[in-house]
Amino acid sequence: MTAKILVAANQKGGCGKTTVVMQLGGTLGHRGHRVLIVDADPQGTATRWAASAADGRPFPAHVAGLAAAGGKVHREIKKYLDSYDYILVDCPPAVESPVPQSVLLIADVALVPIIPSPADLWAATGTRGLIERAAEINQSLQSRLVVNMLQSNTSMSKEVLLVLEDFGIPLTDARLHLRTAYRQSAVYGATVQALGREASKAILEVEDLTAEVVGLIDHHL
Ligand SMILES: Nc1ncnc2c1ncn2[C@@H]1O[C@H](COP(=O)(O)OP(=O)(O)OP(=O)(O)O)[C@@H](O)[C@H]1O
Ligand SMILES: [Mg+2]
Repeated sequence: MTAKILVAANQKGGCGKTTVVMQLGGTLGHRGHRVLIVDADPQGTATRWAASAADGRPFPAHVAGLAAAGGKVHREIKKYLDSYDYILVDCPPAVESPVPQSVLLIADVALVPIIPSPADLWAATGTRGLIERAAEINQSLQSRLVVNMLQSNTSMSKEVLLVLEDFGIPLTDARLHLRTAYRQSAVYGATVQALGREASKAILEVEDLTAEVVGLIDHHL
């Protein structure tokens, strides 16, 4: 079986690409899948996250730093296809980076984390264009917006969520709210599951997102 490839892409910085990749990849790893996280961002956030794991409790996925491959990263990723069940790629935010285009050509699922605010919505249109172009060549590409840092009690969030329905990329049902657990888990080099009961809401969100994304892939076979 060859690995399924998931990519978190959005040119907007700080929207949650690394968070989605680490929580999703770590959760799949906890479930016994062979998971590779490709850190294609020269900032190296995913690499540092995994390296922050405590001794005796390693991050449940391998991380490969492939930022130096730039626009050839898809060729590097192909070398790992037979060794993993899932490969998750964390992209850099730079608009001029050739990485997202390159990975979208071989990906099964593109996840676009998005903070529900007008500025984040405008910034995500560039990524939507990239996905649309890639989908003309890679016809098995599926894409989803993943709402992140949601504050569901604010009217602005509600308004932007309504606008997002017409964005042109479907939304996942699972949403990640603004929670300290997401930041904290990075400190421990872990996923939110490692935080236990205090993070129960974040854990549920991450489990729901994982189930939904796996469902997308399985129903597409
Ligand atoms: N749902 C959330 N609740 C609270 N904090 C969050 C949430 N999602 C992400 N964060 C925090 O926001 C910051 C940015 O998130 P993250 O690094 O995942 O974004 P990114 O898109 O990968 O950023 P970059 O574009 O710089 O790579 C981090 O400090 C992260 O811990
Ligand atoms: Mg990042």
